[in-house]
Amino acid sequence: MNYSTIIFEKRNNFAIITLNRPDKLNALNFELFSELEDAINQIIFDPDIYALILTGAGDKAFAAGADIVELSKSDVISGKKFSEIGSNVMLKLEQLRIPVIAAINGFALGGGLELALSCHIRFASDKAKMGQPEVNLGIIPGYGATQRLPRLIGKAKAIELIISAKTIDAQTALSIGLVNEVFPHEHLMDRTIEFVNLVLSKGPLAVKAAIDCIDMSDKLPLTDGLAYESKVFGEVCGTQDFKEGTTAFLEKRQAKFIAK
Ligand code: COA
Repeated sequence: MNYSTIIFEKRNNFAIITLNRPDKLNALNFELFSELEDAINQIIFDPDIYALILTGAGDKAFAAGADIVELSKSDVISGKKFSEIGSNVMLKLEQLRIPVIAAINGFALGGGLELALSCHIRFASDKAKMGQPEVNLGIIPGYGATQRLPRLIGKAKAIELIISAKTIDAQTALSIGLVNEVFPHEHLMDRTIEFVNLVLSKGPLAVKAAIDCIDMSDKLPLTDGLAYESKVFGEVCGTQDFKEGTTAFLEKRQAKFIAK
């Protein structure tokens, strides 16, 4: 598939997807979702991609939300479909078992922030601005913010952001736990790649297993989650990487993981 609304790059062991409609502040339209889903499918079946970074083209926006031109045509039936299309792609992204990191390089509004919320980690430029402005348009968030935002920052802050439609800056986002770290704008990508390289130096099967278990933490009751963790812990104890990691520690050398 040739992409016109995203750029999909593979670099050694990780991938970068750049939302690429800069003249529309990378607003998320149907074509973009279809291309994003195609790229995610490629990642699922590519054993050589161990991390994914998502960012926006241009200097101004990660994504300024769902495409309001397309959105404006919605009615009761098509509106539900509109929500499901974006929501399903974001769920697929969240369910990737490699680290998925949003590098928020500017506006992340509405669906743009929801896309970042479906990533495992969010790093923001000090110029980033975030918010859920949907109530300004007489609608609610439709790509998961009513569900993921309260899980991330708590119910009261999520309600405050969503019903006020206010836009917050990167430092405020950091202070409420909406983003993991804030970097100077010009260093956002370098620092994000630095983090990816740190993670890539670890046991890849262990990284994958950790993400899997942590993702289960808000889906399972505690006792089931603990049982799930023990099951996965047993599985990773059966890997060659576990033997290598523990042997390397005892031999006081760097581990060489092979993802087996
Ligand atoms: N959908 C479709 N087009 C969008 C868009 C969106 N969500 N957000 C921005 N654009 C388009 C604008 O229409 C404009 O296109 P044009 O040049 O053809 O007129 C272009 O992107 C640049 O946006 P502009 O509004 O001129 O930039 P700005 O710097 O003045 O304002 C924002 C930036 C982000 C504050 C403003 O674009 C905005 O409020 N966007 C909508 C945010 C929103 O409500 N998102 C939730 C959607 S559910």
